[in-house]
Amino acid sequence: MDLNKYNRPVPRYTSYPPANHFTGDFTGSDYSGLIAESNHKEPSHVAIYIHIPYCRQMCHYCGCNSCRLDDERRVRQYVDAVRAEISKVCSLLDRSRKVSQIHFGGGTPNAVDSGYISGIIGLVSGMFGFIDHPEIAVECNPAYLDRQYLQELRDAGVNRYSLGIQDFNLQVLRGVNRLPSAMPVGEIIDFIREEGKASVNLDFIYGLPLQTPETFSETIGDAIALRPDRLVTFSYAHVPWVKRNQAILEKRGLPSPERKMAMFEKAFTMLIDAGYVPVGLDHFVLPGDELNLALQNNTLHRNFQGYCTRRTTGQVYAFGVSAISQLAGGYAQNTKDIGRYIKHIAGGRLATEKGYILSGTEMTVREIITRLMCNYYLNMEELAATMQADVKSVRQLADTCRLDEYAADGLLEFDDREVKVTEKGKFFIRNIASAFDPAYKPEENKYSRPV
Ligand SMILES: C[S@@+](CC[C@H](N)C(=O)[O-])C[C@H]1O[C@@H](n2cnc3c(N)ncnc32)[C@H](O)[C@@H]1O
Ligand code: SF4
Repeated sequence: MDLNKYNRPVPRYTSYPPANHFTGDFTGSDYSGLIAESNHKEPSHVAIYIHIPYCRQMCHYCGCNSCRLDDERRVRQYVDAVRAEISKVCSLLDRSRKVSQIHFGGGTPNAVDSGYISGIIGLVSGMFGFIDHPEIAVECNPAYLDRQYLQELRDAGVNRYSLGIQDFNLQVLRGVNRLPSAMPVGEIIDFIREEGKASVNLDFIYGLPLQTPETFSETIGDAIALRPDRLVTFSYAHVPWVKRNQAILEKRGLPSPERKMAMFEKAFTMLIDAGYVPVGLDHFVLPGDELNLALQNNTLHRNFQGYCTRRTTGQVYAFGVSAISQLAGGYAQNTKDIGRYIKHIAGGRLATEKGYILSGTEMTVREIITRLMCNYYLNMEELAATMQADVKSVRQLADTCRLDEYAADGLLEFDDREVKVTEKGKFFIRNIASAFDPAYKPEENKYSRPV
């Protein structure tokens, strides 16, 4: 099969519809309506996302909503606004619901004082009960982690640490304006695991300047030796039309799609040989990990924060600039401008700037895409039962998706009961998902490419 046939711009489908379909006519009162409705919807748990946009130094490849931390007073104002937003939104929630997940993402949550993180966890615990073993996760840049900071996170109840390694090769890091870990990564992992309650994920990116299949294999070999619970190999998403900071990497020379594919394939083989199980597009977990157990039962889920299981999944209420709430009936996104965010919240308003209300059919498409992206499998009867829909209407939807072309290329097998993605199809799962998306057009400068 020709790689170029499917290496076309396609959404990552971290949501359906993708965030660039959210509309600006969605207001704070639309969000309040979605919040009220979410009190009665499944999954009933409360999942909380907190966005900390600040970073100490900006990486050229960064695709996240991040900015440089240059004013500590501003950080305090920002965190005060986040706390006020949490109090306001949570006053609209049914407090008998339990919190299953708190996730701090960024930017770099550990760029700010750990007291801000523990304070927010304390604020939420004062308002809600928690499920047994909730997931309390923090994305950390290891360049700014020390034992004291780690201890403070542990004392606050953090039990999942995601460390952005990206690459162990110092030249690669230098080329993207990034510092290496301050402590040896093995020592960080030992510290996190000391009390047996917390787990570690390591993030890597392939497709950066100076990376070759050989250097990336060395990095993955070093990672395997550290035996993290989970490991993610992100394909570098090059979107300089949105993230102008990335343009500089073109001058430094980005690897070709074939070289990128070779990096992923080598890393994939090494991780499988080392006993890791692939989950979704780019995650690898130890066999006992709950994500693998969920994958085996076809019950893996996903939200903007990453993969999760039925145990920890919930209605996602998101706080802070650019944060996206993911509720049963739709999405609400806050403004990306920190000044505007603080002003709205200080004025007693929500900071919603965009959003989307899903139609009944779109809810079904969202469920199909989530199931395929997570479990590589779709059973039409099960789906119809979950959506309380007629199985005929689900089949009709599948009939319009030109699945035979994907089947002819060996990417999936299907009949009128189920769709099964093949091993080869897993690499092009975004393309397969796009077949179910009636609004998808392969436009340039809108989405990154799968490879
Ligand atoms: C918010 S950052 C993680 C925490 C911290 N800021 C750090 O860099 O270590 C989330 C992850 O997104 C990934 N990422 C950022 N920009 C990306 C891009 N353009 N393409 C693919 N992955 C990207 C990186 O692997 C990064 O670890
Ligand atoms: S990758 Fe992480 S540290 Fe680097 S700029 Fe992006 S959010 Fe900040």
